[in-house]
Amino acid sequence: MAKEVMKTHDLPFSSRPQLFSAKWLFYDSTDIAFSPYGSYWRHIRKICILELLSTKRVESFGFVRAEEVSRLIHRIEAESSPRTVNLSEKLRLYANDVICRVVLGRNFSQAGDYDRHGFHSMLEEFQELLGGFSIGDFFPSMEFIHTITGHKSRLEKTFRRFDKFFDELIEERLDPGRKKTREKDLLDVLLDVQKNASSEMSLTMNNVKAILLDMFAAGTDTTSIVLDWAMTELIMNPRAMRQAQAEVRSIIPQRELVSEKDLHQFDYLKAIIKETFRLHPPVSVLLPRKSIQDVTIDEYEIPAKSQVFVNV
Ligand code: HEM
Repeated sequence: MAKEVMKTHDLPFSSRPQLFSAKWLFYDSTDIAFSPYGSYWRHIRKICILELLSTKRVESFGFVRAEEVSRLIHRIEAESSPRTVNLSEKLRLYANDVICRVVLGRNFSQAGDYDRHGFHSMLEEFQELLGGFSIGDFFPSMEFIHTITGHKSRLEKTFRRFDKFFDELIEERLDPGRKKTREKDLLDVLLDVQKNASSEMSLTMNNVKAILLDMFAAGTDTTSIVLDWAMTELIMNPRAMRQAQAEVRSIIPQRELVSEKDLHQFDYLKAIIKETFRLHPPVSVLLPRKSIQDVTIDEYEIPAKSQVFVNV
């Protein structure tokens, strides 16, 4: 059934329900994940494919990943003297630093920046607000309940924290005296798209912020959760760990560092990652979809505007 929805009838199920929380957190659902199907939906996906997440762009950030992996190793070495290390915490910092550098051009883990900006608590609040059951999503006439329960004020508070953070960064970026970074980050790319846009393809500053927010909300925890589980499974399965280590040594016997160019040779490592996804899918229920027309699947007549939840 999932294949029918996501592959065979992909187009009629391409829209997203307008969730109460997403409307508040993502600038009226103008991000990639929650925007409803239509011309804006197509427009931002095109920007993603051609500009933000093209192979060339992803490769251009290889140096960021290499530097951050190296910092991760140093952090682990620096803390391992009593033979205990909080790997989850280190992997979270790593994932956050990679996303921050790729999206915003700098990391926020130095001099207590990570705690000062409260990334972890912001993202946790985010997951909770988005992941929870919202009665207004099923009975829109009952949306007023979110004011009584305090859900709405939590949404406003979390939204304002991120919005202020992005405003400060954008202001800094638009300063003509600013020092240029090595590679264009995703904020530069989005501001370029905005500057060069034709009238039918324009992006507002709120659209830029909504897309930036998506990258944080979708890219930080997912990455660190997968890494965390992969390491946990390897620690619990010493035979697999030995085989993974043997694979590294057989492919790069002389060098100390594995580079991204070597990765295509690592079949066992790829199997470990797939197995980790299978055992511990970081997003266990996919983002809800909403049908835009009537569809018949397996003799069930599914009317337009139905919400579909896929359990991974
Ligand atoms: C291991 C890491 C990741 C996992 C497991 C993961 C998983 C997912 C899943 C399951 C979805 C929902 C797809 C759907 O329901 O249609 C999704 C959507 C999305 N993810 Fe990721 N993700 C990861 C990393 C990232 C990163 C690093 C970014 C950004 C740089 C990102 C950006 C997005 C966006 C923008 C969407 C919405 C796509 C759409 O609506 O078309 N994700 N991701």
